[in-house]
Amino acid sequence: MRTADRLEETTALDTAVEPYRNLVQRLPAGRAKDFLHGVWLGHPLHPAVVQMAVGAYISAGVLDLMGGDEKAVRRLVGFGLLSSVPAAVTGAADWSDQHEQQQRVGIVHAAANSAAAVMYLASLAARSRRRARAFRFAGLMTASLSSALGGHMSFRQAAGANHAEAVPHLVEPGWHRLAALDDLPVGTPIRRMLGEVPVVVVRQDGVVRALADQCSHLAGPLSGGEVDGGAITCPWHGSTFRLSDGGVVCGPATAPQPAFETQVRDGDVYVCLPGTG
Ligand code: FES
Repeated sequence: MRTADRLEETTALDTAVEPYRNLVQRLPAGRAKDFLHGVWLGHPLHPAVVQMAVGAYISAGVLDLMGGDEKAVRRLVGFGLLSSVPAAVTGAADWSDQHEQQQRVGIVHAAANSAAAVMYLASLAARSRRRARAFRFAGLMTASLSSALGGHMSFRQAAGANHAEAVPHLVEPGWHRLAALDDLPVGTPIRRMLGEVPVVVVRQDGVVRALADQCSHLAGPLSGGEVDGGAITCPWHGSTFRLSDGGVVCGPATAPQPAFETQVRDGDVYVCLPGTG
């Protein structure tokens, strides 16, 4: 996928990215956008929704190859086109909160999906079966290319991945001294290192809370964010996590933040991460 690697660095794409991003960012933030991200599912919604369109297009292609019933093929294409609407909306919501390199690949991914949809629409309007098949074949090739770009975004660029997943594998089981209590100001997030793992510590209301500092969305530093009540907000794209258990209060993050248990002994703060090892 050298082409996709090159797309990441093609700054000329930014002229297309910017107006589209401005448009998508006008979507009201809050519950509706969180729904599109998949906060309620604990997983990005886009990959799940995409299966419907891709499955319908591939099934239509297989039926075409086997000389299947034209009516059935057209129904599958119609279902694929309808399914592509939620796929596009969920994808756009995720895309609006990504890094610029991801957005460059993403804009080409979206353009290829749109081109595939136009070809499938043209296949429905075509009068002859031969012509309809030609449009469907072109649509399937374009949609496949677009899927490869989506794979590049997911697996190479880690868009939608849980960027805090490695934390439980890097922390040794048991309790570890993290800081002296007196070194922690009240209400201000502080970054401390536990071996090679950055931890954000917040002292408030007589309790010390500790979460992995690297945001599960795209690895932003939570210690640079703001604490409000019992939650902390990432400075990069505004994901908010409960300090008590790392649960997602609002997206774009969908994965919870690893949350440490804490103890204060003899003036020192100790932490333990459940599920390590
Ligand atoms: S890195 Fe995107 S919200 Fe934290």
